Amino acid sequence: MKNKFIPVCNAYLNGNEKKYLLDCINTGWISSAGKYVKEFEQSFAKYCDSKYAVAVSNGTAALHIALVTLGIKKGDEVILPSFTMIACAFAICYTGAKPVFVDVDKDTWTIDVNKIEEKITSKTKAIMPVHIFGNPCDMYEIKRIAKKYKLHIIEDCAEAHGATYKNKKVGSFSSIAAFSFFANKNLTTGEGGMVVTNNKKYYEKLKYYRNMCYPLNKPRTYEHEDIGFNYRITNMQAAVGLAQVEKANYYRSLRIQNNNLYRQYLKNVPGIIFQKNQKNGLNVNWMNAILIDEKQYGKTKKQLMEYLNKNGVDTRLLFTGLHKQKCLKKYGCNIIGKYKETEKLTKYGFYLPSSSDLQQSDIKYICNLIAKFRR
Ligand SMILES: Cc1ncc(COP(=O)(O)O)c(C=O)c1O
Repeated sequence: MKNKFIPVCNAYLNGNEKKYLLDCINTGWISSAGKYVKEFEQSFAKYCDSKYAVAVSNGTAALHIALVTLGIKKGDEVILPSFTMIACAFAICYTGAKPVFVDVDKDTWTIDVNKIEEKITSKTKAIMPVHIFGNPCDMYEIKRIAKKYKLHIIEDCAEAHGATYKNKKVGSFSSIAAFSFFANKNLTTGEGGMVVTNNKKYYEKLKYYRNMCYPLNKPRTYEHEDIGFNYRITNMQAAVGLAQVEKANYYRSLRIQNNNLYRQYLKNVPGIIFQKNQKNGLNVNWMNAILIDEKQYGKTKKQLMEYLNKNGVDTRLLFTGLHKQKCLKKYGCNIIGKYKETEKLTKYGFYLPSSSDLQQSDIKYICNLIAKFRR
């Protein structure tokens, strides 16, 4: 169709975002000192069934201060899936610790819980499960392993706002959990992040590290006992975030609904593979990723992506495995070895358009193209 363009993912700001943002501008409260930061934190903590939340500048910063707060440092090892966004490994590297990879499950694409124990050494201090594309990990099995080896869990919930496992919200299973509010996320502040925890001591430390290690409950002397970070969020971002949280269940339902439509319209097209939802979990479908079984489909992934792009449908490649990232070598990472499922995802997978406000007619159009191209 001429002039048609369906982006891979747009932000959807459908509630009080503009009203709260204008309030910041009209009152002049635009830095991190405004009231929306606290309100955003409190409403988000509640949404995650967690006691405390600390808003930060992005999801990578959230992961980093979570690790620092838990005392992860040089000489330590942190276990994480090989199939995830690079920020997970970077945050570990910032602390001087070494990321150690575990392949993902072939169906759910989340960390393969049966392969975690073989990677644990005397240096292992934490596990960082990632609820990839909104699909929750098998959190009780991860908790069992963490308890056995006395490890922390840092949940990466960047892609999974509102997802549940056995009716419990993600983010409430771990010592500290990290979220991202980047523009393509299910909830967004443009750029932004959050850490949530049920532990008061961690909560205080997270606030301390976020803001340059200024003493929290003492007058400011401008003397600092630790190295801190400027990971503050602005009142303007928090204003948008508060409005997003007010409609969090609505935004969540749109992503789930869109994913269900894709599955329905493509169910009779041979060679199209979807992520399998975690048993007893609620997948919030951050992105609609598919794999192409090229033999069954009769065309390659590359051919299909080109065909879709030619017809106004934007697509994106999936992540490259962490074990293939040469930049991690200097942290002593094993960037060799076989991570079969991760490699399969990278090789045969890509994202279809996934905005919350995607129209049913657009999904139908995309799926018809996919079906037609096979013939
Ligand atoms: C799984 C995962 N972790 C961490 C991040 C980092 O978040 P941010 O881009 O807000 O720094 C992302 C961002 O896309 C992500 O997908």
